[in-house]
Amino acid sequence: MKAKIAIIGGTGFYDAKVINNPEEVEVKTAYGKVQITIGNVNKIAIAFLARHGGKHELPPHRINYRANIAALKNIGVARILATTAVGSLKKELPPGSIAIIDQFIDFTKNREHTFYDGTNANGVVHTDFTDPYCPQLREILKNVMLEKGITFAKKGTYICTEGPRYETPAEIKAFALWGADVVGMTNVPEVTLAREAGLCYANLSLVTNFAAGISSHTLTHREVVEVMGKKIDLIREIFMETAVSMPAARECCCGLKEDYPLGK
Ligand code: HPA
Repeated sequence: MKAKIAIIGGTGFYDAKVINNPEEVEVKTAYGKVQITIGNVNKIAIAFLARHGGKHELPPHRINYRANIAALKNIGVARILATTAVGSLKKELPPGSIAIIDQFIDFTKNREHTFYDGTNANGVVHTDFTDPYCPQLREILKNVMLEKGITFAKKGTYICTEGPRYETPAEIKAFALWGADVVGMTNVPEVTLAREAGLCYANLSLVTNFAAGISSHTLTHREVVEVMGKKIDLIREIFMETAVSMPAARECCCGLKEDYPLGK
């Protein structure tokens, strides 16, 4: 089964729900096997992948990001819409806010973060990240949300930490000085691998809490899941409308100049 568009669901987004005729497929890659649901909306095939597994069994640092992106590429996916739950570093982005992320800062430490490890046919490759998130997909997301009358931040910088622990207030203060708006644990290397594989990738982040030291209370995963639970239907709706309103042609910087086989 094939699909050109995929949704990657983060915390609190574990099932495809509004996708019709969903079928579970297991996709084999050079990096491991991946469970993907494929169905359709308005006759458009859409794949759904739960980043943390269907029961949130995988912590951020153990997600097999390379297998996930390779599997999506293997089934024909060219464009990915992904959600992430984030903590906010800005008073103007209280819990419940939605942001289209346009930049990231990588503060991860110990992840398999590249397809270009020097062992495949392409040898040493350095990928440009001037515009890390697909400009065309961001524009479509923006227009869908404007049309629906949703209030959201049109851009934002996401700092990705290693986790699974939350941050210290001192870290959050430093991250704010670096220019980060929100903090999460999963967007890197997902976004970078997507670009290395030549796929378009856009991220919608939902603020589930103020970050450590800004929040009036200590942080819990329960709080994150609860806030996500209140907005998940809206995010699904935004993604489905974005998926069906995508023009067929990719007009962006994300594709590979020459295709290459992923894996060894
Ligand atoms: N920090 C890191 N990851 C998160 C947070 C946070 O405050 N909230 C949701 N995901």
